[in-house]
Amino acid sequence: MPPPVVCNATTLKEAGTCTGRLVGTAIGVNHLSNNQLTSIAQAEFNYITAENEMKWSSLQPSRGNFNFTNADRIVDFALQNDMKVKGHTLVWHNQLPGWVQNLTSADEVRQVMTDHIKAVMDHFKGKVVAWDVVNEAWANPNDWVNGQPTLRNSVFYQRLGGAFIDEAFIIARETDPTVKLYYNDFRSEAVGQPKGDAIYEMVKGMVERGIPIDGVGLQAHLGLPNDKPAIEDIIANMQRIADLGLEVIISELDGHLCDGETFEEQGVRFHDIAKACVAQPACTAFTVWGIGDRDSWLNTWDELNCMGRRPSGLLWDDDLNKKPAYEGILSGLNGK
Ligand code: XIL
Repeated sequence: MPPPVVCNATTLKEAGTCTGRLVGTAIGVNHLSNNQLTSIAQAEFNYITAENEMKWSSLQPSRGNFNFTNADRIVDFALQNDMKVKGHTLVWHNQLPGWVQNLTSADEVRQVMTDHIKAVMDHFKGKVVAWDVVNEAWANPNDWVNGQPTLRNSVFYQRLGGAFIDEAFIIARETDPTVKLYYNDFRSEAVGQPKGDAIYEMVKGMVERGIPIDGVGLQAHLGLPNDKPAIEDIIANMQRIADLGLEVIISELDGHLCDGETFEEQGVRFHDIAKACVAQPACTAFTVWGIGDRDSWLNTWDELNCMGRRPSGLLWDDDLNKKPAYEGILSGLNGK
């Protein structure tokens, strides 16, 4: 193995370019009118995920009626600024309209899933470089059986069984042979996490069966109620996925401070993950889930019980000043 590159870049995207990784953030259509946020996005990132605008409920709120307006605005912003786009997400139990959740036959679910994947991927063909084809198919611990992870009881699973995952990837590959196809999930970043182990076994099986999957997204929403795994265990998980010939990307990083973690400790934790990505050739992209703490989705989590303060899980503070989390990730992306 060649020695890892060490760079001295002063922005996240330049550091990622120097060490060979895309550096991304999530952005919502409501952020596009905020000049401070768009300036930071332009200066620091070269990879964009739409925070909500490419989800099923946004794109096909009623059967056969597609609305691409908001998603297109985000894609236009990205392409005008030389950023790449990851499509997020085709098949997910959440932000899924009631008309899909209420389908009762396997044939209908298969038809509707096929139609959605084809219409959405065709629309964005040539404009996105990758898709999260299936998101969060594994259940949360309360729903596991005897402590063993199970697939989530979504309408897709209920009507098609676990084979819906293979089917979704096959349809996606037929629709666009040129984009990367990812499976994306949370609380599964590390070896030893039950969901991490289950997802590893699942994607290993997919590779063995010749299912067209290109990689695994580790969301990395790290902090209660999710785990904060040890960095060695994240590195080992990235390596075992890489050993299958797959990419392994950090797809939605944030990590709240509600357990009393300091800004500095957060900076170290984020640094270690960025550095792990740069040290792993299969880690082609590193995305954080937003820009400023003020606009983070973590603020909507009442159950975090953050003692009246913000969860503060991102790289810029409430006034959009850079935090130690920013400096940590910059140095990690520089390979330091
Ligand atoms: C979140 C968005 O950030 C919120 O604005 C929205 O209300 C809910 O979804 N995993 C995912 C993302 O894959 O799509 C989620 O985004 C965060 C968890």
